[in-house]
Amino acid sequence: MSDTALEVQDLTRTYGSGDNTVAALAGIDLAFRRGTFTAVMGPSGSGKSTFLSCAAGLDRPTRGRVLVGGTDVTDWDEERRTRLRRERIGFVFQGFHLLPYLSAVENVGLPSRLAGKRVDRERVRQLLDRVGLADRAHHLPGSLSGGQQQRVAIARALLTAPDVLLADEPTGALDSATARQVLGVLRGSVADLGQTVVMVTHDPVAASYADEVVFLVDGRVAGRMAHPTADAVAGQMAHLDELVSA
Ligand SMILES: Nc1ncnc2c1ncn2[C@@H]1O[C@H](COP(=O)(O)OP(=O)(O)OP(=O)(O)O)[C@@H](O)[C@H]1O
Ligand SMILES: [Mg+2]
Repeated sequence: MSDTALEVQDLTRTYGSGDNTVAALAGIDLAFRRGTFTAVMGPSGSGKSTFLSCAAGLDRPTRGRVLVGGTDVTDWDEERRTRLRRERIGFVFQGFHLLPYLSAVENVGLPSRLAGKRVDRERVRQLLDRVGLADRAHHLPGSLSGGQQQRVAIARALLTAPDVLLADEPTGALDSATARQVLGVLRGSVADLGQTVVMVTHDPVAASYADEVVFLVDGRVAGRMAHPTADAVAGQMAHLDELVSA
């Protein structure tokens, strides 16, 4: 088994053509070791969501490679990439994306059902317990708070024990206390389960839960910071914003 959960090589994504070409990603090389928590930060438009979409196989890079668990998946067709997303990549969105007419326990088991597999009820129960929602298992999303819904979404993304869990601003819609609970769940999945997490965030406090921060500017890696603190990250972000507006 590869020690690297996710790797991108010369990852490039351009949109449009001619004078209207936008280089959302201009050649990114990054590797994420198993069992690590990385935050991806950068000014608006720096390519963070494009990076996650390419890594998840939702979008195809213009150039470069994407390797998941050591397997080059760049040229996989749509059917194989759908299976990849279902089985080996967990995705958590800012807006939760739970099915409103399914209970928490049914939402968590959904990836297995979509894959035509038996739902492992014991694992679903353990995951809901892990995110602190054992007593809310049969609630519909509409009767859960935002933070509780996001924790259901994380439990669902962990169901298949994916190679990597990708999260696009998972705390963006939450107040700071609720955000801390969600970040604690992500941190715990790394510490206890050996999960690999890559999280896009604008929030220096959220980034401080990660082992390392990767900064993107104009579709390029502009720096990295190990053992980030909220203050150090905020300082670096202010500096990067100056670079962009300059
Ligand atoms: N489908 C698309 N068509 C054309 N341009 C796009 C498309 N998607 C993204 N872009 C452009 O690519 C660049 C990077 O976008 P991306 O969404 O990755 O930024 P981001 O870092 O996630 O920003 P934010 O912090 O605002 O979410 C931007 O200039 C954006 O306008
Ligand atoms: Mg984005």
